[in-house]
Amino acid sequence: MAEVFDVERVLAQLTLEEKASLTSGADFWHLKGVDRLGVPSVMVTDGPHGLRKQETSSDHLGLGQSVPATCFPTAAALGSSWDVDLVRRVGEALGRETRAHQVGVLLGPGVNIKRTPLCGRNFEYVSEDPVVAGEIGAALVDGIQSQGVGTSLKHFAANNQETDRMRVSADVDERTLREIYLPAFERVVRGARPWTVMCAYNKVNGTYASEHRWLLTEVLRDEWGYDGLVVSDWGAVHDRVAALAAGLDLQMPAAGTRPDDEVVAAVREGRLAPEVLDRAVRRVLRLVTDALPAVTEPGTFDVDAHHALAREAAAAGSVLLKNDPVDGAPLLPLAGDDVLVVGEFARTPRYQGAGSSQVNPTRLDDALAALRDALGAGVAFEPGFTVEGVPSTDDDAALLAAAVAAADRARTVVLFLGLPAPDESEGYDRPRLGLPDNQLGVLRALAEVTPRIVVVLANGSAVDLPWRDRAAAILETWLGGQAGGSAVADLLTGAVAPSGRLTETLPLRLEDTPAFGNFPGELGHVRYGEGVLVGYRWYDTRAIDVAYPFGHGLTYTSFAYDEVAVEVHGAGPEVRLEVRVRLTNTGARAGAEVVQVYVRDPQAAVLRPVRELKAFRKVALEPGEQREVVVELAARDLSYWHPGLRRWVVEGGAFVVEVGASSRDVRASVEVDVEGEPLWGELTDMSTIAEWLEHPRGAAILAPLLQPPAGEQGLAELDDSMRAMMLQMPARALVDFGFAPVDHARLAELVAAANA
Ligand code: BGC
Repeated sequence: MAEVFDVERVLAQLTLEEKASLTSGADFWHLKGVDRLGVPSVMVTDGPHGLRKQETSSDHLGLGQSVPATCFPTAAALGSSWDVDLVRRVGEALGRETRAHQVGVLLGPGVNIKRTPLCGRNFEYVSEDPVVAGEIGAALVDGIQSQGVGTSLKHFAANNQETDRMRVSADVDERTLREIYLPAFERVVRGARPWTVMCAYNKVNGTYASEHRWLLTEVLRDEWGYDGLVVSDWGAVHDRVAALAAGLDLQMPAAGTRPDDEVVAAVREGRLAPEVLDRAVRRVLRLVTDALPAVTEPGTFDVDAHHALAREAAAAGSVLLKNDPVDGAPLLPLAGDDVLVVGEFARTPRYQGAGSSQVNPTRLDDALAALRDALGAGVAFEPGFTVEGVPSTDDDAALLAAAVAAADRARTVVLFLGLPAPDESEGYDRPRLGLPDNQLGVLRALAEVTPRIVVVLANGSAVDLPWRDRAAAILETWLGGQAGGSAVADLLTGAVAPSGRLTETLPLRLEDTPAFGNFPGELGHVRYGEGVLVGYRWYDTRAIDVAYPFGHGLTYTSFAYDEVAVEVHGAGPEVRLEVRVRLTNTGARAGAEVVQVYVRDPQAAVLRPVRELKAFRKVALEPGEQREVVVELAARDLSYWHPGLRRWVVEGGAFVVEVGASSRDVRASVEVDVEGEPLWGELTDMSTIAEWLEHPRGAAILAPLLQPPAGEQGLAELDDSMRAMMLQMPARALVDFGFAPVDHARLAELVAAANA
């Protein structure tokens, strides 16, 4: 059994060659060890929603077999639970399995923002919103690491598409990075301290993420205080010397000896400081010592208990989009057993996506068997359509005819629709937003026969739903993991109340989506032209209709929001808001609500989205039960990233706090006045008159010069349009146009005095 060793003692005994060699992997999944010094080789493996430990073959594409492990719901489903306690428990289970298999680090979670629904890997990511992605990501890291194994927060950063992912430059302005693409990483790093962070494949503003010093050192370490290890995505390093200098510590997988030799040469020739290499090696050794107790005492896990947890999580992450009454009552929960199940997905579940996250499940539930268990063996079934990737000898026309004939005889039809597996994978993006035509043809035909249709959807990210009027009820289950089938039965029968909410907007059309026109980029660049208007920030700010908004989700009861109040404490960077709401379950069944708190800054020097989620609470209530929900917001929740000052600022004035059940179901809104902080920067001769007058010293210096000579018009007496024109002129125009009794030399003195 390997002993925990002293990192500094080992470091002091390593040769330069050994040090260089420790900064790359031993093989596909192992770090290198140093036998002579008792440093063992530790294994790391994917992630994120289950363990993909390969014992015989190795690849990062999900091709080779891996050991059986619980396939928990994908991040898209897990995140839709908005339930941090549940997610932490899933994390603990993932950690137990990782440890039981003697793996030191589980390679996840992924908290990249869903910039476009077409990203092939969205199922592995949590949300279009950084607060949701960050909270869920932190809960996962917390849970996994509580078992003594590590995580790898990925893919840092701006890895929001698969097209050209190993080369493309994500061209993003700093404010957008700070407000949209980095905060989920920041929240997880600061709040849960992941053992490792994995850099992205792509370039960010022209520099590979693996060589991006600003990202890997200035932001991640200097600003956020990260002290763990930065590992490359598999094959993301192009120049290890540059990567080490930028702040990367470990290149994975094994890369041959050439990069090691280059590191040795760079140190010998003075191109790479020995301390930089030492720092990286120290982090590698520390990771090994951190993982050792777990891999030497692996422990076991309870397969049944983990399957049950996967079932609970899949139910919690499913979103009831719609549940309209037919014949006077909503279709769900199902009332009797006269149910016809249609759709191949009911017996051949789609429960995870393709690529490196693909898990070999310990077992696999299908919804058809689960519904028959719950409602009786008499539940009829028709496959309805063929699915790309699922072998079949049937043809679509015959399957459709049989489904329609059967529907004629049943009281309620439950129709399972979804994206075929080849549509959603790591390594390439989705070809389309919609479901395949053969599936929609079945829905159209069934809708001619009965209004009693429940659609159950399986897809890893948003689809469009132009067909939604044809179904009275729609349940979005995402890719729900190995127990997704039984979770669906729990929800449809009412054994469990739906409680998931959308973490991504379901748009009406691809053309409405924020990145449309700027995705997937051209000539090696993808321009994030929509800036901070990502997800609901885009749809709400531009007042674009959507199919179902961010945050939306129904259940089998209803909730009232009363007594919403907001108190302001402090000012500027110290400001704090206390938001209160009394929540009541006003229906006849138990259920959970996700209370969402949004903030709007109606007047700011920069464009701000009309609303931004800042906090949420999931609250379970019995019928008639009430709870007071209290949420605290800090200055950062009111701030924007000031591109000129390059820091977060709270711009004073009115703020609107909205409390509601989705971004388009705001139940109460309260306006408060917040004292901001000074926003002026350096004044120059090109600063406008308005900027001078807003600046306390600038105003004192400039205002007297704007006093008109006796009998002439001064600024205050100018008519509105003249005054507006004047305010936008740079100070030097005062000299050039003779508006002030100064010359350029005097103006330069005034500039110096204003900035003194
Ligand atoms: C993926 C990572 C994964 C790694 C190892 C890469 O292709 O982008 O998410 O952890 O492979 O399989």
